[in-house]
Formats: sequence, C-alpha cells, structure tokens
Amino acid sequence: MAATTETILSATPEPVSCGAVALAEPDVVSTGQAAPTPLDLEFNMNKTATVLASKPHAETPKSGLETSTRKEISDALGDILSAAYSLLLKTHVHHWNVVGPLFHPLHIMLEDQYKALFEAVDVYAERIRALGFLTPIPKVAIKPDAQAMSGEAIVFDLIADHEACVRDMREIAIKAEDKKDIVTHDMLVARMDWHEKTIWMLRAIVTKA
Ligand SMILES: [Fe+2]
Repeated sequence: MAATTETILSATPEPVSCGAVALAEPDVVSTGQAAPTPLDLEFNMNKTATVLASKPHAETPKSGLETSTRKEISDALGDILSAAYSLLLKTHVHHWNVVGPLFHPLHIMLEDQYKALFEAVDVYAERIRALGFLTPIPKVAIKPDAQAMSGEAIVFDLIADHEACVRDMREIAIKAEDKKDIVTHDMLVARMDWHEKTIWMLRAIVTKA
C-alpha cells in the first residue's frame, strides 16, 4: 500500500544507516554513554567560540627574504590576483555570450580557460599568505563592456588581456628573482607559460589566410 502523507509524518523514524553501519539513536552517543547535558553543550560551545576567535594577521616568516621584499612582492601579487580575477570573470561572461559558427569550440575553450584562471587565483592568493601577508580582496574590473561582442572581438579582447597579464608578470618575476624570491619567480614563470600558450591558441583562431 502506498504511504500517505499522514502515515509518513506519524511513522517512528528508523535509525539512519550509513553504508553497513547503523548510526546510534539520537539520545545516545556512539560510545554508548549518555547524551551530553545542556551544561556540557554550553561548555563545548564556549570552547568552540574560543577556538574560532582567532583572527588572521601578518606574519614574519624567517625564510631568508627581507621584509621589504616580502611586502613588495606581495603587493605586486595582489595586483596580479586582481587582474587574473578580472580576466576570469570576463572569460566566463564571454563563454556565456559568444555566438556565431564557432560558438561550440569557443564556448568549450573559454570554459577551459576560466577554470584554469580559477585555479591560478588560488595559487597567487596562497603565495601571498606564504609570504606572510593577508590576501587582499581582488579589485575586479571588466573593460570594455563584455556583453555584446562578436566572436572575433572576444578573441582579440582576451588576447590583449592575456598579453597585459604576461607583461606585468614578467616584470614581477624578474624583480622577485633579483630579490632572491625564487619561489615567486618560478610560480610566475609557470603561470606565464600558460598565458603564452593561451595567447597562441586564441591567436590561431583569428589568424587570417
Ligand atoms: Fe558553462
């Protein structure tokens, strides 16, 4: 017989199973001991509140880099983070709005690109943290209006942005190496490699015969 709404609501709930292991009744903890009292719960909440009270702040890692270097490179990476986030968002918008005979390959290619950029922003942000500073909130700006562009205009627009990213990253990579921050240097070289390959692929789409 099919269960009615009333029978479902009035039925005694069955213990919930997770795979082969049945979970304990709600009023008994899995060790077989009595459930925590309100006082226990309040104590645990206070402990949790204390643990969660920590706030992030700048650190001074003794990793062989001058504080001024760490600050300078972190600020520069903050700018790269903003540029990458802006390009990520613009690429996503182009992915949605692109039209024309090349819709499908461009739609798929741009999806690959915004996913790669999403991974990249995490790399920049975490490098800033490793250098001892807080990650800034990226300043996202999309120019020009990315809403109404032809497929060709989209490709040229993205090429220009990727090229601008690479130019900025090259300057910072060289500066980082000069100041012994070879980790940031290598990270940027890897990211530049991706941008330059992306520029090549985008350019191949709009190259005329
Ligand atoms: Fe999509």
